[in-house]
Amino acid sequence: MSLMEHHSNIVPWEIISKISGFTIKYAKVNDNGTLDYEDFESKVSSKTKLVSLSHVSNVSGVINDVKRIAQVAHEHDALVFVDGAQSVPHMPVDVRDLDADFLAFSGHKMLGPTGIGALYGKKHLLETMEPFQGGGEMIKEVSFNQKTERVGIEWNDPPWKFEAGTPNICGSAALMEAINYLENIGMSEVLKYEKMLTEYATKTMQNCCTKLMLYGTSDHSLKCGIMPFGIAGLSSHDVALFLDNYGIMIRSGFHCAQPLHQIFKLQSSARASFYIYNTREEIDRFIEVLKEIEQF
Ligand SMILES: Cc1ncc(COP(=O)(O)O)c(C=O)c1O
Repeated sequence: MSLMEHHSNIVPWEIISKISGFTIKYAKVNDNGTLDYEDFESKVSSKTKLVSLSHVSNVSGVINDVKRIAQVAHEHDALVFVDGAQSVPHMPVDVRDLDADFLAFSGHKMLGPTGIGALYGKKHLLETMEPFQGGGEMIKEVSFNQKTERVGIEWNDPPWKFEAGTPNICGSAALMEAINYLENIGMSEVLKYEKMLTEYATKTMQNCCTKLMLYGTSDHSLKCGIMPFGIAGLSSHDVALFLDNYGIMIRSGFHCAQPLHQIFKLQSSARASFYIYNTREEIDRFIEVLKEIEQF
């Protein structure tokens, strides 16, 4: 694990560790929001069973070198789970190239609906795993033995083994539409467009206001289109409310990543982020409003 994780990649592991009794180690994060790879490598050992890390931080936009992380983990016979919630919507992600054992992403961050996502797992691993939920569809056969008066169950093959009950049919149809839409544009094009917007926003934001503080690294090669910032003397919620009055939506708070805010020594941050529907003109308008906010 690392200290830049979204709470959803911390809390479930902490809950299971209380039941199973395993130890969790958190790799450090540098002041600029990048992963401390040395610290990470020092914490992986022959005792490590699983390394679980985000591909892209939802606070800083920092892209982790998952290939390097997977290589280190595999050298120690550990498995790798990648939180792809912020990478899959924004860039080409090839699980084979990354050598990720598992990777999860959410529909609502990539033009799809809420309440649905996907988990990729290497087939040979999924085949050896027990189901985590029981119900219809996830079995091949349920048979009652007259002699023993016991029920015998044969699990279905993956992925059905892990899809108990009637699935979210509407959600999955909508998510598939979103994926097809993005694939028609091309994920490389999505990444290229977002990089252009991020570079433009960084350049204009850096010089626009004296009270504006940009958090995390400004090295574009290390990050994607997420810009955490603050305005001295104002809470992130006030900044968000002000922008909202002008029809500009950003997020404020700790973005479900409190440990990373502890590293940044912040209670909260404002976060602008870009996607394929944003434009340079919108960034110009955003900057104009930031200049107005600064007058307060
Ligand atoms: C990096 C990251 N991981 C995980 C999540 C959790 O996604 P969900 O709310 O769909 O479970 C988010 C959502 O904010 C995220 O940004």
